[in-house]
Amino acid sequence: MCGIFAYNWSENAVPLLVEWLRNLEYRGYDSAGVFWITKTGEIFLEKAVGKVTNLATKVEKNSNKKGDYNCWIAHTRWATHGWVTEANTHPHYSSNKRFFVVHNGIIENYRELKKGLESKWHEFYSDTDTEVVAKLLEEQFTWDLLETVEKVTKMLVWAYALGAVDSENPWVLIGAKLWSPMIVWIWESGIFLSSDINAVSKVADEFISLEDYEIVKLEDGKHSIFCSGKEVRRKWEKINDNFQAADMWDFETFTDKEIADIPEVIRNVFRWRVDFDEHIIKSSTLERLNEYDIERIEIIWNGSSYFAWTASQWWFRSLAWLPCEARQWSEFLYETFLPDQKCLYIFMSQSWETADIRESVKMVKSKWCLTFGIVNVVGSTVARECDMWLFSRSGIEVWVASTKNIVGQLWVLILMAISMWLSRNLQTVEAHDILDKLSELPEKLESQLNNLTHTNNLVEKYAQYKNFFFLWRNLLHWTACECSLKFKELTQIHSEAYSTWELKHWALALITKDMPTIALNLKWLFRSKNESNVQEVKARWGVVLWVITRWDKNAELYDDIIEVPSVHPILSPFMPLIPLWSLSVWVAKVLGKDVDKPQNLAKSVTVE
Ligand code: AGP
Ligand code: GLU
Repeated sequence: MCGIFAYNWSENAVPLLVEWLRNLEYRGYDSAGVFWITKTGEIFLEKAVGKVTNLATKVEKNSNKKGDYNCWIAHTRWATHGWVTEANTHPHYSSNKRFFVVHNGIIENYRELKKGLESKWHEFYSDTDTEVVAKLLEEQFTWDLLETVEKVTKMLVWAYALGAVDSENPWVLIGAKLWSPMIVWIWESGIFLSSDINAVSKVADEFISLEDYEIVKLEDGKHSIFCSGKEVRRKWEKINDNFQAADMWDFETFTDKEIADIPEVIRNVFRWRVDFDEHIIKSSTLERLNEYDIERIEIIWNGSSYFAWTASQWWFRSLAWLPCEARQWSEFLYETFLPDQKCLYIFMSQSWETADIRESVKMVKSKWCLTFGIVNVVGSTVARECDMWLFSRSGIEVWVASTKNIVGQLWVLILMAISMWLSRNLQTVEAHDILDKLSELPEKLESQLNNLTHTNNLVEKYAQYKNFFFLWRNLLHWTACECSLKFKELTQIHSEAYSTWELKHWALALITKDMPTIALNLKWLFRSKNESNVQEVKARWGVVLWVITRWDKNAELYDDIIEVPSVHPILSPFMPLIPLWSLSVWVAKVLGKDVDKPQNLAKSVTVE
């Protein structure tokens, strides 16, 4: 979602502008723009709908004028207010074309502000909420941009990361932040503003992540940070290796590559944390966690992660005998919070940038409850606000669909459940057996990755349908919901996930020969009951693709099958992932979809 880059002072950084905007592309966006001004005061404003390449072409046309740059602010927009048009693309400017701004987020009170400005003669050229900020800068200007931005931000309700320039004094560049991420970072001798640490990790040496309500001023290659009018000292942080941007290697898309990374992610989660010979979990964080008297668990997450609760609920409940419930971030913050000091609140996010995360963590902490973050972005300040956290070590996930990241999170959860299980001395022998089985999983998943030809052969047939059912029972609940989500996301074909048991209550009403069903039917998980339910689908001319355990003796009864290796039942949720995610990717490719950038979606959801 939306991104900002801004810079002033040195002359050399402009050629890198487009390249850096490309680094922001993974977040998802629909248009891009840049404002720059030369030391002689010449102003350029270029905007383009679509890819950054379109903007690059326009910037290139001005290359003869690129000489002596002083200051630029650039933006990739993910439209929230107003269509995807050039007029709505950032940067936006004041009526007198003196002040230029880029903005990530949503100004909730923009209508009232706009009315007030219109009554004072300002005319609006865009439908965005952002344009009011540019007009307000002009209206409220006090001859000091820092002071003016501070004044204006006090008038704004809610979320922003802002970059602002006064074209009559471009030596000063101002950044401000509330809820939306904003960092200051150093590269060689220059200081930059950006909204995303991942996008700059290849080049940045050190960074400071701004706190809410802080305002930063860049001038003469130096920065100063202010909060409520007072200067604050903040320490530079080193870029962690985890941020190092990923390469696609020989894969056709990043999504293909990230699916192929899954076995390694699993190994990484366990590396140095589990001694498989001694059957010991060696994580000091988990040891500390086990010292608390925890009676129940709540997991707060969204998106792909949300469905993961159904799998982890099963693990916590049946292994550690702890009840576990889930909440979505968006709802959690606005429902009545019943603080429970015996509850462990686990916060999960792939990006740790989702708009309402910080407030949710703060709310729980303010009631003295125990917070635990599962984190793939070590530098994320929000994650560090949790009392404890574990790193899911998945490496950067570049494009929109989450695959290896969600697997990494689930592996941390399984590790937590087993650690709690062992600490309570519950069925130690069985726990040891499960640890042995866990250690075998990466190899089994690797063998799956090497044997996808059969799945590939099904692609042409299944790419023809317009609607799908994914059916599950028991532990495969998460898997079916997640695979249905990914299928929708990547192929833009409608699909829904149901329990096979629920079919006859309502979903059968939709079964026809045009409504195929992908039925997850693995060993030990009510296989014969599933078979009967799915026979009911077939009796209504439904087409069924079965996902079954290898060597299933009933294999010949099924129309189309995808076979997966046999594993311990608690690991079964992982087994259909690689073939079904790959099926989604391939169907998407056959339909000509952009696998890495599904339409309308963004990577980090930074607006509420
Ligand atoms: C995954 O395939 C989806 N694009 C989406 O659910 C994604 O997982 C979600 O938006 C991530 O939010 P988060 O960074 O807070 O975890
Ligand atoms: N709300 C602003 C707009 O629609 C900013 C969107 C963004 O964060 O990219 O233009």
